[in-house]
Amino acid sequence: MAASSHLSLRPLPGHNRPIFRSICRPVLCAADRQALFNRIAPVYDNLNDMLSLGQHRIWKRMAVSWSGAKEGDNVLDLCCGSGDLAFLLSEKVGPKGKVIGVDFSKEQLSVASSRQHLRSKACYNNIKWVEGSALDLPFSDCYFDAITMGYGLRNVIDFRTAMEGMYRVLKPGSKTSVLDFNKSTGTLATSIQEWMIDNVVVPVATGYGLEKEYKYLESSIQEFLTGTDLEKLALEAGFANAKHFEISGGLMGNLVATR
Ligand SMILES: C[S@@+](CC[C@H](N)C(=O)[O-])C[C@H]1O[C@@H](n2cnc3c(N)ncnc32)[C@H](O)[C@@H]1O
Repeated sequence: MAASSHLSLRPLPGHNRPIFRSICRPVLCAADRQALFNRIAPVYDNLNDMLSLGQHRIWKRMAVSWSGAKEGDNVLDLCCGSGDLAFLLSEKVGPKGKVIGVDFSKEQLSVASSRQHLRSKACYNNIKWVEGSALDLPFSDCYFDAITMGYGLRNVIDFRTAMEGMYRVLKPGSKTSVLDFNKSTGTLATSIQEWMIDNVVVPVATGYGLEKEYKYLESSIQEFLTGTDLEKLALEAGFANAKHFEISGGLMGNLVATR
């Protein structure tokens, strides 16, 4: 069944129609983004550690914890990249559970798969990597007990379709936990974020020959949704409730939405 065919999109009070329906950003088309993530795959994990001073590991643990995933669950890590959140989910759900990591970048999935084979914990055998699009999920309705999405939503070309897809494949009462850069409404937090990207992230990435790939980060945050807008989007997609939490002084944010 098509994702949208059984969703009741409720306009927000004061709006005649859902406000995010037509968002589809022109910065880079989907194929460009796919190529970008393929190119950065070999250095992606090292750069994450370096640029966040290892803190991304804490933020990802928080995201997995907010997803409510528990032992024996069947869970999805959307836009899984090299698999950080999928590995954490795997530990949560244990050998009786199942984790599916979905991404449209072959290279990222190949790194994820190599990491899986290098790791010794038996529970990691419960992860399956699927090459696919977050905008057209190849799963039946009400299939998962929890979903995580780390730094993925900002990168898809249609936020609404991604959110509707997550709603569709989640079981009633289950949660999606969406971690990403926070698009702050405060000028101080925004200035600090932009300063960090211009003066730390891009120069470091330039050293790896990836200047333009990481310059894209700034525009993608500018075009992303604020916490309040993410909550509205989730409610419009059908979620029963949605709460956005700011992390690390508003640098990062995590949306938790319950179907
Ligand atoms: C910034 S990375 C995040 C990877 C991982 N979740 C993490 O937190 O380290 C974003 C990932 O989203 C994937 N992605 C972007 N758009 C996608 C789409 N439409 N369908 C599937 N994957 C997508 C990219 O290939 C990339 O691996």
